[in-house]
Formats: sequence, structure tokens, C-alpha cells
Amino acid sequence: MQKKRTVQLFLTATAALLLSACGGGGSSQGGDEGAGSNIPYLRTNHANYTEDGSSMTPAPTKDAARKSITWTISAKTQEDASKLADHIRYMDAQLKANKNPRAFDKLFLMEAYMKYNNQYTSSVEQSGTSVVVTKQAKNSCAYEVISAHSDAVSGDFFARGDTSQNYSARAEQILASSACQDQKTAIEAYISERQR
Ligand code: HEM
Repeated sequence: MQKKRTVQLFLTATAALLLSACGGGGSSQGGDEGAGSNIPYLRTNHANYTEDGSSMTPAPTKDAARKSITWTISAKTQEDASKLADHIRYMDAQLKANKNPRAFDKLFLMEAYMKYNNQYTSSVEQSGTSVVVTKQAKNSCAYEVISAHSDAVSGDFFARGDTSQNYSARAEQILASSACQDQKTAIEAYISERQR
């Protein structure tokens, strides 16, 4: 009996170890969302990207009055720039196709809801090693969501190559704010249907 129990414990521990080595078992934390996402490349090479004309980490330029966010990013190589631009195009297409990258994370679920319901637009242009991204929200709720997402991209993804954080608490704050009052019920229903 004792021997059987020990074997069981050993097998469970090994399974858990294997799962964590393969990136957390799908999108529980920081899944990589498919080959076309370029996420593993971006995570590994995050330090190859700087704010245009400086050695600083890329940071969003926010215009709350216009509800827009702009990025002007310099990449070390043309390949780095292409990988980033392709990542943004890939994710734009995923969201328009009603998919949910990082389905455990309420902030990414809210962004998917906003994109699928056409409440913001995004465009990306690459020339040589330069990548310019523009995101335009159509209302304050959508603006708060893309603004919070841009903080995660700058502060964790670019700065540290860290995609393991969960921004659900930030999403809940935005959902509770006056900016999202008229959409709160619909967004909560969407999140409870899609979160996994
Ligand atoms: C699990 C990891 C990741 C997921 C699920 C993810 C997903 C997304 C999504 C959904 C968008 C928005 C696309 C749109 O609005 O059309 C986006 C944009 C972007 N991502 Fe990622 N991404 C991840 C990791 C990264 C990493 C590691 C970097 C860079 C080191 C990065 C850089 C960017 C940039 C610069 C944008 C455009 C700016 C913005 O949306 O504010 N992402 N990503």
C-alpha cells in the first residue's frame, strides 16, 4: 500500500514538472498562442527593441483626449522589426476572428471584446527597423482597456520579457469605472463565457 502511494506521488510530481517545463499547459499562464504569434521570439529578444531615437524601453504615447495610443519602436535588426509587426498583425486577425489569446486574463478578454465589437482599431507600419503602431478607441471604456494593455506591453513584455503576469485585477478596476458603466453587464457576460 505505502509503495503504491509513493509511486502515485512520484508520478504526479513528474507530470507537474513536465507541464511547467512546457509553458504552463496551454493558456493557463503565459501560453504562446500558436506558431504565428512570434511570442517566444519576442520574449527572448525583448531587449532588441527601444523607443525610437533612444536606448529606453519602448513606451506608448497616450492621447486621452483623442483616445489614441501610438508606439514608435526601433528594432535592432530588420528581422526583429518584422517579427514584431507580424505579431501585431497576427493578434489583430485573431481578435477579429473572435479568438481569445490569454483567455485566463480578463484584460486580454476585454480587449478581445472591444476589437470584435469594433470599439477600437489598430494599425501597424514597418519600414526597415522602425515599427509604428497606432490604436484608436471609439469610446472611453475601450480607451481604458487599450491603455492598460499598452502598460503591460511596455512595463513587463518589453522591459523584462515577462509574460507570466495576470492583469485581471486591472481589468476589474476598469470594469468598475464610470467609463464602462453602460457596457458592464455585456462585458461581464462575455468574460464569464470565455475565461478559461
Ligand atoms: C502571451 C503573450 C502575448 C500575447 C497573448 C499578446 C497578445 C497581443 C494582442 C492581443 C495585441 C493587440 C493587437 C491589436 O490590438 O490588434 C498585442 C499587441 C502588441 N504586442 Fe503582444 N502579446 C504577447 C506578448 C508580447 C510580447 C512578449 C511583446 C514584446 C516583447 C509584445 C508586443 C506587442 C506590441 C508592441 C503590441 C502593439 C501595441 C499595443 O497593443 O498596445 N507582445 N499583443
